[in-house]
Amino acid sequence: MTSGDGMQHAPAFDLERVVCRFTELGAQGARAFTIGAGDWPLRGFVVRVGDAVRGYVNRCPHAGHPLNLLTDRFLTPDGALILCCSHGALFEKSTGYCVAGPCAGRALTPVALEIRYGFVLLADSVDVNALAQAAP
Ligand code: FES
Repeated sequence: MTSGDGMQHAPAFDLERVVCRFTELGAQGARAFTIGAGDWPLRGFVVRVGDAVRGYVNRCPHAGHPLNLLTDRFLTPDGALILCCSHGALFEKSTGYCVAGPCAGRALTPVALEIRYGFVLLADSVDVNALAQAAP
């Protein structure tokens, strides 16, 4: 997009719904995000799946703990699955479905994301407050 002054400008969108730049995810990356204000912001994480992304609430369906202990560490060492650090539950990256562990058969709560102009952001349909307070 070029303005009248000849400068290149990023298109306008709601900065409060931006999760990160797509390039910040790396080849197989994952990244935590917090969106919203007050005592109950939406705490989630984004996972790269090929050229797409998936987002989930950072709350394990087993005991409700955050999945990560270390910042942005959500995946198994080979990057194939999402790992909950508390008790070892494993989840598919593309669906959030738990394939092994104490909550096998359950699933992470999805957060709809989209990629626009190289940025990952919450889809317009996402109600931040409702997701932040949803039960696991
Ligand atoms: S809280 Fe995630 S496996 Fe127990």
